[in-house]
Amino acid sequence: MTNNNIYFVANWKMYGNLRSLKSLNKVINIAKSNLLKKAKIIYCPPYTLIDQFVKKTKNTKIDIGAQDCHFKNGSGPYTGRISANQLKSIGTKYVILGHSEKRSEGDTDQIINKKILIANQEKLKIILCVGETYKENKNKVVLNVLKKQLNSSLKNLKKFNNIILAYEPIWSIGTGLIPLNSEITKNVNFIKNIIKKKYKIQNIKVLYGGSVNQNNINILKKINNIDGFLIGGASQNYNKLIDIVKKTTI
Ligand code: 13P
Repeated sequence: MTNNNIYFVANWKMYGNLRSLKSLNKVINIAKSNLLKKAKIIYCPPYTLIDQFVKKTKNTKIDIGAQDCHFKNGSGPYTGRISANQLKSIGTKYVILGHSEKRSEGDTDQIINKKILIANQEKLKIILCVGETYKENKNKVVLNVLKKQLNSSLKNLKKFNNIILAYEPIWSIGTGLIPLNSEITKNVNFIKNIIKKKYKIQNIKVLYGGSVNQNNINILKKINNIDGFLIGGASQNYNKLIDIVKKTTI
């Protein structure tokens, strides 16, 4: 881990309902203690829960994010979509963009780029996901894939202070498989170097995501160039999430 605040982003995907608010209370109580002072916890529940989560976490160290936003901003005839402005208006601070589950539903790098520019305009903090498929990994084209995803999705972006990156190998999401620490280190270094060279940004934050859980966290936390984790399945269970946070930060 780097020496900065360590990010734990809980991506709840299409899980959770009103009953989930109870488990949030337990995490809030623990986050209040000084024990976790290096931890930055960000919950990204489904849209249906964002308002409640924002209210519950007011005056705590926990922030709330969305899992996506539309590529058009403001209001308009876009059935089923939510704009960055609408998210911002209810107190959402972060938005995950470019998640592979959204890419597999049709989000191209160009669409992701539009979303990034809009979310940035709304001053939402953006967690941009990049990562390769299993086949791309086997074909050893990971660095090319990462470079293309970064260059296309960050096009025309002028300010990077609201950008966090997440390296999420697609083959690792929800499979229980994780890359070797050396592989993550190499790919994250590559990402950081692109941002440094091309955009002259020194300390961009990069998270790792893909099957992070309470059992493998003691291995993953040894990676010294990452700034935290983007956690799917394990983040829906507060005991597992707290275990992950404690093992990493204490
Ligand atoms: P899992 O932790 O369930 O593998 O999901 C990772 C992910 O997609 C987080 O965005």
